[in-house]
Amino acid sequence: MPQKLISLTYHLLQEDQVATKDHLEFSRLLTQITMAARIITQELRRAGLADMLGKTGAVNVQQEEVKKLDEFANETLISACEESGLVFGAASEELKSATHFHLHGRSGAAYAVLFDPLDGSSNTDVNGSLGSIFSIFRRRSLQGVGTDADLLRAGRELFAAGYILYGPSIMLVYSRGLGVHAFTLDPGVGQFFESHYQIRMPAHGAVYSINEGIRRRWQPGIAAFIDRLQSEDSPAGKPYSTRYTGCLTADFHRILLEGGVFLYPEVLGNDGHYSGKLRLLYEAMPLAYLAHNAGGRGSTGLEPILDIQPTSLHQRVGLILGSQAEVHLAEQIISEAVSEKECESRA
Ligand code: AHG
Ligand code: MN
Ligand code: MN
Repeated sequence: MPQKLISLTYHLLQEDQVATKDHLEFSRLLTQITMAARIITQELRRAGLADMLGKTGAVNVQQEEVKKLDEFANETLISACEESGLVFGAASEELKSATHFHLHGRSGAAYAVLFDPLDGSSNTDVNGSLGSIFSIFRRRSLQGVGTDADLLRAGRELFAAGYILYGPSIMLVYSRGLGVHAFTLDPGVGQFFESHYQIRMPAHGAVYSINEGIRRRWQPGIAAFIDRLQSEDSPAGKPYSTRYTGCLTADFHRILLEGGVFLYPEVLGNDGHYSGKLRLLYEAMPLAYLAHNAGGRGSTGLEPILDIQPTSLHQRVGLILGSQAEVHLAEQIISEAVSEKECESRA
């Protein structure tokens, strides 16, 4: 079977908006991001030989220990954004505040990029799957310099979003709102080639993905939902299988292609309050955008992810992400659980 020969470059050239300035700028920006992905891939492939495993000793704004590969991926993506000349500001999971660029005196660049440079960092030292996730916003106004207000935008305003999955294959998955497409890196050629065009997420699947180890702390309704998926009365009409890698990108990629549901719900903290772990702007939102554009859904259980108006760069949310049938069922069961809790508290 001859290899599919539509390279990312040719794919971008043939898209029907090719003549628009937006599309040409997006093509240049995506080319920069995939160049960064190839550089990160090289480092991942040889990390064990180049003293790039393990921690840097620093703790980031998330109060998480930074891995050497987190730092490398972050620096590589920051450089790619700055050198593009198209990005006025970038925000990263690894940086406390946004970085503003004035390359060649150009601060009028039109785009903001927010990213998780290396997702699934607990997998770095055990050769597990990893990802890079990105959100792209176009500035509302091109007057003056871009501000942080241009970064704190709801998912419905996304210009584009995507991820790179560093697995057995290196894959780029992106959407500009006109479908979700995937490209696979041919390491011999050094180019990404189209491998999945107009991905559609199945209406339901037969897999769920969640960290069962913290079941006792899940927000109300989640345990009842998982019990339902483990029964004959599930959307698949049979008990689901569970798959969980510790890398959101990898777990979502399976759901995108085969259907089902990924959950990282709010969990009960030592302070007695429920809170989310995943970050809205560069984890939950870009993947909910991709899910939505492929026919799926992303929710906190109580509201669609894409409707949330961010108030801070590193804001966290609970996330239920996947096929319509499973996410709607989860929302229904969670809503019932919340109502029951409210009745109990009034009794
Ligand atoms: P990151 O490595 O960027 O901090 O992201 C890790 C996230 C996500 O990739 C994954 O689904 C989740 O954290 C795993 O969390 P647990 O280890 O608590 O299951
Ligand atoms: Mn992450
Ligand atoms: Mn990360």
